[in-house]
Amino acid sequence: MQSSKKVIKKIAVMTSGGDSPGMNAFIRSCVRKALDMGLEPYGVYEGYQGMIENKIVQLDYDSVCNITKTGGTILKTSRSKEFMTIEGQKKAAQNLDSHGIDALICCGGNGSYLGLEALSEVWDGLVLGAPGTIDNDVNNTDFTIGFDTAVNTAMSAIDKLRDTGDSHNMHFLVEVMGRHCGDIAQSVGIACGAIDVLIPETPSDVDKVVSSFRSSGHNIVVVAEGDETGGAQALSKILREVFEKHHPGEKAQFRVCILGHVQRGGSPTARDRILAHEMAEFAVEAALKLETKQAIAIQKNEYLLTNLS
Ligand code: F6P
Repeated sequence: MQSSKKVIKKIAVMTSGGDSPGMNAFIRSCVRKALDMGLEPYGVYEGYQGMIENKIVQLDYDSVCNITKTGGTILKTSRSKEFMTIEGQKKAAQNLDSHGIDALICCGGNGSYLGLEALSEVWDGLVLGAPGTIDNDVNNTDFTIGFDTAVNTAMSAIDKLRDTGDSHNMHFLVEVMGRHCGDIAQSVGIACGAIDVLIPETPSDVDKVVSSFRSSGHNIVVVAEGDETGGAQALSKILREVFEKHHPGEKAQFRVCILGHVQRGGSPTARDRILAHEMAEFAVEAALKLETKQAIAIQKNEYLLTNLS
């Protein structure tokens, strides 16, 4: 979709929602590409909340030195309740206008895309989204920035758990993030040779999990946090009962490990850095072509624009 603007001079980048590894690489490449194309880059700090509070700062080449390898986001991020109100959105739009911003690129997940759509109702600058979330749950893109790193982080944690599991014949139920999406669980489960993987997209069969257990040795079950069993803690109670029914006289040693926010941190993998860089360049190029209300996506190794909604 083309904007009615004729030309853009000032372009802002922001990160929003949960942080994900690779956001810094994304910010850096947006800024550097913008400078290469003769644009003035700006950063919106602390997501939509920062936009409401006018935390908008001009960036230059040096603002983004040495950040490709770092986790988190130098622009910081937030989940803003105030931005969900029309008053908050109008305040944010006024602040963008007060700096003369023509285009905004936001790296985040589903909530961030909804935010861009809401903003576009009250602001006439260009809005573009780029998928930044560990969950890999953004529609129309095969991969999101941060997913690969989160999978690798969870994989190395589970590799370590295996050492203890093996030494003690102990079973581990490992809960990974992903909100309502089972992509992290599925990838990690395969990468670690888990005996089973429980994800929200398919009904979980606890009897089948127990029947696949080897009673000697140890087993790893990966559970997505959004699975309908209620996650690893709830599953351990159910599994213990079913296991003892199937193996009378045996006591199962189930340990629960919830990996939590460690999956959102750390230095991004090469794959996430490259994805972030290529998406950032694509986003700035799309802004120069006056595209708006679009999201950058990757499908079958090709970058493309998809409708934000
Ligand atoms: O969307 C990223 C994510 O880490 C999800 O996997 C998780 O459900 C959620 O954010 C946790 O959110 P918060 O950091 O607000 O607790």
